[in-house]
Amino acid sequence: MQNRRLFLATLAAVIAGGGAAWAADATAGQAVFKSQCGICHSVEPGRNMIGPSLAGVVGRKAGQEPGFHYSAANKASGETWDAATLDRYLTNPQAVVPHTLMTYAGLKDADKRANVIAYLETLH
Ligand code: HEC
Repeated sequence: MQNRRLFLATLAAVIAGGGAAWAADATAGQAVFKSQCGICHSVEPGRNMIGPSLAGVVGRKAGQEPGFHYSAANKASGETWDAATLDRYLTNPQAVVPHTLMTYAGLKDADKRANVIAYLETLH
């Protein structure tokens, strides 16, 4: 009985810990967004700033936010902003979309990128 309880407690801890280790954290991503992206991007639908609104950006084709004046480079990129493309783009925007107007050096920390993408996925 004692052993069985210990086994179950350990199992629960492993599941909880393992889950946290691989699941990207949208709440942490929101903080990354505020410090890294919020100066240029709003998450309110239709609110364009220096960059386009990022509401609903995941799954959207590049250059589709109404009323935002994109660069020709962005519009012609042919990218669709799924998680894998965003991961490459946010690592080094200029490498994925040469001559983009997004003058952002890139987010080099893979965990922070995964978290910020998880946050963007909540913005539908
Ligand atoms: C210095 C301002 C600035 C910062 C900081 C910035 N961006 Fe941008 N972003 C832009 C601009 C401007 C564009 C439009 C690019 C173009 O037209 O070439 C853009 C475009 C984008 C696009 C493409 C949108 C579309 O509709 O095609 C995504 C996605 C994006 N940014 C995400 C982010 C994320 C996530 C961050 C933070 C990690 C970030 N950006 C930081 C200015 C910025």
